[in-house]
Parts: sequence; C-alpha cells; structure tokens
Amino acid sequence: MNVLKLGGSVITEKDRADTLDGEALDRAADAIADADLADLVVVHGGGSFGHHHASQHGVSKTEGSSDAGAVVDVHGAMKTLNEFVLARLHDRGVPAVPVHPFSAAHRDADGTLTLPTGQVATMLDEGFVPVLHGDVVAHAGEGVTVVSGDELSVSLARRLDADRVGFCSTVPGVLDANDAVVPSIDDYDEVADVLGDSDATDVTGGMAGKVRALLALETPAAIFGPDDLGAFLSGESPGTRVEG
Ligand code: IPE
Repeated sequence: MNVLKLGGSVITEKDRADTLDGEALDRAADAIADADLADLVVVHGGGSFGHHHASQHGVSKTEGSSDAGAVVDVHGAMKTLNEFVLARLHDRGVPAVPVHPFSAAHRDADGTLTLPTGQVATMLDEGFVPVLHGDVVAHAGEGVTVVSGDELSVSLARRLDADRVGFCSTVPGVLDANDAVVPSIDDYDEVADVLGDSDATDVTGGMAGKVRALLALETPAAIFGPDDLGAFLSGESPGTRVEG
C-alpha cells in the first residue's frame, strides 16, 4: 500500500483564498491516473482553502476553537477542495472516494491523534482510491484543532503498514545550504544545519517537521516536487529518500 500526500500549495494558489491551481491539479491527476499501483491512498493538504479559513478563526494544530461555526467553515472549505480533487480524478477514471477526517479522527488531551483505518483498508480492498485531506478534528480540552495532511499520512502509513510514503511538495526535496537536493536522510543530525535544531517546535508543517515525522516511521519515504510525482508513482524514490 502506498500513501501519497499532495501538498496544499502544490494544488492551490497559496496566496489567494479558496483558489485552485487547476493546471497543477490536472497534472497531478494525470500522474495518478497513469500510475499502475495496486493500492494507493491520497491525502491532500489545505493550501489556500484550509489555512485561510483556519487562521481567520484562530485555529491551528495547537490552538483550538469551540465555535461550531468555525468548525463548519474550515471543514467545509476542505470538503470543497476535496470535491475538486475527486472530480479531476473521476474525469480520468480513477475510482477516488472521499474520507473526511473530522468525522473519523480525534486527539486526546496530549494532542495524540487517533485515526481509525478500517474503512480505508476496506475501501482499498474494494478497489477504491481513498482521498483524505487536512481538516479540523475534535481535541480533548481544546474544542477542535487542525490536523495536517502530513500527520494523517504518517498515521495511515503506520496503521496500515504501508510499503511507501511520498510527500509531494513545492520543492524538489530537502535542500542543502546550496539549494541542492539532499539525496537521502537517515539521521536528523545530517540536516539539522539546514533545517534547524531537532528540538525546535515546527507548528507550520515545514520541512523539519516532515523529516522528523518520516524518520520516526518504519516505512521508506520520499519528499519530492510535482515534476517527480510520476516517478514516485511508478515505484521510484525521487527527491530526498527519508528512512530512519
Ligand atoms: C491543513 O492541511 C488543513 C487545514 C488548515 C484545515 P496541511 O497542513 O496538510 O496543508 P498544506 O499541505 O500545508 O497546505
């Protein structure tokens, strides 16, 4: 089973609220339709849909909200983006189906995420391509907080014992001080100079957080740019390979 995270800034115009990057999404959907993978789960980020609405309501991964209107607004924006992604996949014959994390997942008081995966596994068995998205989730003591597509991807990979995880981001991989792609990382210390101290908190979902989360995972992972999506989906490990 393969998990593909499509970064929100890959498929939306990050600087304009609620605006799709239709051409980029078409290219990503083409690559997914061309892929010959038996089991694929897609997770997409929020880009200008999720982040715009979340920040308007002051909701982040750590700051919660108990306002039902805020929940419906952020979750609704993400469902809209999810419908765009599904529609472009359906146009190409991909049997994509929605999975909305707000209705399935939660965090405990420590912020630990629990995401049930029986529905996703059964969808895969039945030949569907489940498409999840960054969302808000109920968080004990906080109301709701944001759950990122990165977190969902790592959680799915762990629970469903994925063979590979790919993070398709706007950059072609983890970049070193000279902006060259670091080919592989198996220890955070190798990249601490360019990504920052491993103890630093990374609430923005930046590259440091991605690398840390992927190093903690048993599954081999790759971080790559949109041009390498087809390569990842054909079984290669483009960009930066991350394996702890
Ligand atoms: C964010 O998801 C979801 C919301 C803000 C509701 P991600 O954090 O995965 O989105 P990107 O990939 O950074 O845009």
